[in-house]
Amino acid sequence: MNVAVPPLDLDRPAGHPAPLIDLFARAITYLRVSVTDRCDFRCVYCMSENMAFLPRADLLSLEELDRLCSAFAAKGVRKLRLTGGEPLVRRGIMTLFSSLSRHLRSGALDELTLTTNGSQLGKYAADLKSCGVERINVSLDTLEPDKFRAITRWGDLAQVLAGIDAAQAAGLKVKINAVALKGVNDDELGDLVAWAHGRGLDITIIEVMPLGDIGDDRLGQYLPLSIVRSRLTERFTMEDIDYKTGGPARYVRVQETGGRLGFITPMTHNFCESCNRVRITCTGTLYMCLGQEDAADLRSALRSSESNEPLYAAIDEAITRKPKGHDFVIDRRHKRPALSRHMSVTGG
Ligand SMILES: C[S@@+](CC[C@H](N)C(=O)[O-])C[C@H]1O[C@@H](n2cnc3c(N)ncnc32)[C@H](O)[C@@H]1O
Ligand code: SF4
Repeated sequence: MNVAVPPLDLDRPAGHPAPLIDLFARAITYLRVSVTDRCDFRCVYCMSENMAFLPRADLLSLEELDRLCSAFAAKGVRKLRLTGGEPLVRRGIMTLFSSLSRHLRSGALDELTLTTNGSQLGKYAADLKSCGVERINVSLDTLEPDKFRAITRWGDLAQVLAGIDAAQAAGLKVKINAVALKGVNDDELGDLVAWAHGRGLDITIIEVMPLGDIGDDRLGQYLPLSIVRSRLTERFTMEDIDYKTGGPARYVRVQETGGRLGFITPMTHNFCESCNRVRITCTGTLYMCLGQEDAADLRSALRSSESNEPLYAAIDEAITRKPKGHDFVIDRRHKRPALSRHMSVTGG
């Protein structure tokens, strides 16, 4: 009988855990960590108004989050993004950024970054920069104060714009993320692109994804980016470019502004074949795919021993279960969320 035996990793020095390669030969080099499921906004596409959050006692401590991130860095993750919920509302979060920055200095990580709603950037932008953060993503779906309040329910546009100013003043490169929402901001996306490029910012437009019960009908929000793109061509000349940030966006250069514009199209274009990422929740649950329910509990492995060996074994086992792709569908027959989990649990 012919049995395929995986090659022995003879070149690997003792004490260095094996890198993460899944069964479809994808190397896992990008980890997103949701450090809290809480948020100071209640965006209509992300949360319901009355969200039930996890009990604080279930959360990993900042030290445990550090140990978990460090274990992934030891296993070949090169890019680490803290997200949420709103990462900057987690108490003591700058301690975590500060301790993780040692992996930038040692060369274990290429990039430490975050996705934020921008509300706390006025307070933290300079500290983030001094922790080695270079680029950040700020979510902003509209430049109209009333519409901003309607989308985020609790947010204040002026505070977010001041946060973006603070980030730029601190020397952080800011990329804007805007979710395309039918009948809400679709008429404004061209203006948002012109505004971002006018400030020297990249911008990415994202298709809304069916995650979590938000007390509304997804079909009402969903706007395929093929439509957004064809509307934008009425105003802008867009040239495909080969720019990559390690994420799933496909970029164009807008001739009129000279700026970069990305499209993230999980619904209309499936980019799973090149997926290099996994996600961890603030309770230490590892999701191998944003669009599937399968998950692995790393908290037990983390707490079972002071040695990282059980943790490495749990991570290795989970990666063998990384699926080929997601099964998101939004159509008239699928009005329910594809997954009961909200985006704030795993981060965007
Ligand atoms: C969950 S938030 C977490 C980080 C931070 N609070 C923020 O808003 O940037 C990350 C990203 O996910 C996006 N997002 C949330 N729910 C979404 C959904 N159902 N479909 C598509 N994008 C979503 C947000 O717009 C944001 O850009
Ligand atoms: S998208 Fe971000 S800011 Fe908005 S509710 Fe979700 S976690 Fe909060």
